[in-house]
Amino acid sequence: TYLGLDLGTSSLKALLVDGDQRVIGSFTAPLEVTRPAFGWSEQDPDTWIAACEAALEGLRAAHPAELAAAEGIGLSGQMHGATLLGADDAVLRPCMLWNDTRSAAEARALDDAEARSITGNIVFPGFTAPKVAWVREHEPEVFAKVRRVLLPKDYLRLWLTGEAVSDMSDAAGTAWLDTGARAWSPRMLERTGLDLSHMPRLVEGTENSGSLRPEIASRFGMKPGVMVAGGGGDNAASAVGVGVSEPGTGFVSLGTSGVLFTATRGYDPAPDTAIHTFCHAIPGLWHKMGVTLSAAGSIEWLSQLLKEKPGDLTAALPAAPEGPGRLLFLPYLSGERTPHNDAEIRGVLAGLEADTDRAAMVQAVMEGVAFSMRDCLAAGGAADRPSRLVAVGAGSRSPYWLQLLADVLETEIVLPQAGDFGAAFGAARLGLCAATGASASQVMTAPPLARSFAPNAAHRDAYATAYARYRALYPAVKSALG
Ligand code: XUL
Repeated sequence: TYLGLDLGTSSLKALLVDGDQRVIGSFTAPLEVTRPAFGWSEQDPDTWIAACEAALEGLRAAHPAELAAAEGIGLSGQMHGATLLGADDAVLRPCMLWNDTRSAAEARALDDAEARSITGNIVFPGFTAPKVAWVREHEPEVFAKVRRVLLPKDYLRLWLTGEAVSDMSDAAGTAWLDTGARAWSPRMLERTGLDLSHMPRLVEGTENSGSLRPEIASRFGMKPGVMVAGGGGDNAASAVGVGVSEPGTGFVSLGTSGVLFTATRGYDPAPDTAIHTFCHAIPGLWHKMGVTLSAAGSIEWLSQLLKEKPGDLTAALPAAPEGPGRLLFLPYLSGERTPHNDAEIRGVLAGLEADTDRAAMVQAVMEGVAFSMRDCLAAGGAADRPSRLVAVGAGSRSPYWLQLLADVLETEIVLPQAGDFGAAFGAARLGLCAATGASASQVMTAPPLARSFAPNAAHRDAYATAYARYRALYPAVKSALG
């Protein structure tokens, strides 16, 4: 069997598959985000370890023999977080997450022609390097103690194996990687006061990175020395899960963040756009993606406000969208990544009426996220644009939202059959590759599909008009909020 561990933002999921990639079982442990100041978003790395322990315990309770038979482990994780470690690998401060925008000034200072040509990307405030620059500036006593900087899933790996290693796909989101060369850039490290000694060793996602420590193996009834694969950032791991490796294939993810992801043949950066160009978790491949910071995260926000579970909220809507509502929502609850790269902007619900009800608000939030994904699609240009997108992430449980995406993106959206083809499954696949040496093309097949959502031509013009109104709202809010 093979184990995938996905360290998400709102939960950690452990998923076990058999040698034929059939899911045996999974266990999810929740995680919390703290927001101590405007634009800050943090997690205590110890809570990741506790969640991983809970998930492994849960899997062991339900499937002891199958967990004991695990031959390979793969890791996936929320990208970009700066986990700062001192002597003895002690955690120096809470991890600053991917949707933490406090380092906007540091990102602006780093984001020049040199950085763009080395990394192939804008230096976004959400990336790792500007966060370390922020710590250097604002918490010099912490910076002085930094011996190592790890991405979230790589901190989990350090606990699992004792080894400091990262994979290419996650490393590409730091702004320290020479993305075309798939190697750390000493120059970019130097620009944030670091050098290669602070960086983990790099492996490809399908390569072995280390072995499970005997203490952990015996605690969860696993074999000592089980191989742990490089794994991937959660978006590359999701791509592996749904078999998105060929150019012209892509997925749309509705997790806490929203992602529109396409595989590319070679390294073809577009640093003038807010599209990210990263290494794939598969050797020799790259990918592009546009990111919206609050997708299902916007629904989670509304669900907390209205005190209803996300699933119950969407139940108030008709089976399929009937055209755009009058209410407009900008989903910029944590600032904005693609296409505006604006850390300071915040969300807005515009056009409230005396009889605006919860259904109208839910609809507006879903439409705002769909329009934001259309921004991501538009920023990516026409080249390599997939003719259909596989839907993944918690939000893909809503058929309403998927039809809405098909209508707004004017692209077919397909939903895999019931089952689990997300980042944890992709991680298990990477574990399988590392343990067996199987090739990516053998393992990373597309899932069987349950449903297809074709764009509804009758709604096309109405959504195009609503999208134009949505586009006009950002500059207005920008001038009002500053
Ligand atoms: C990608 C990004 C998010 C996180 C979510 O650039 O910031 O999708 O990976 O976990």
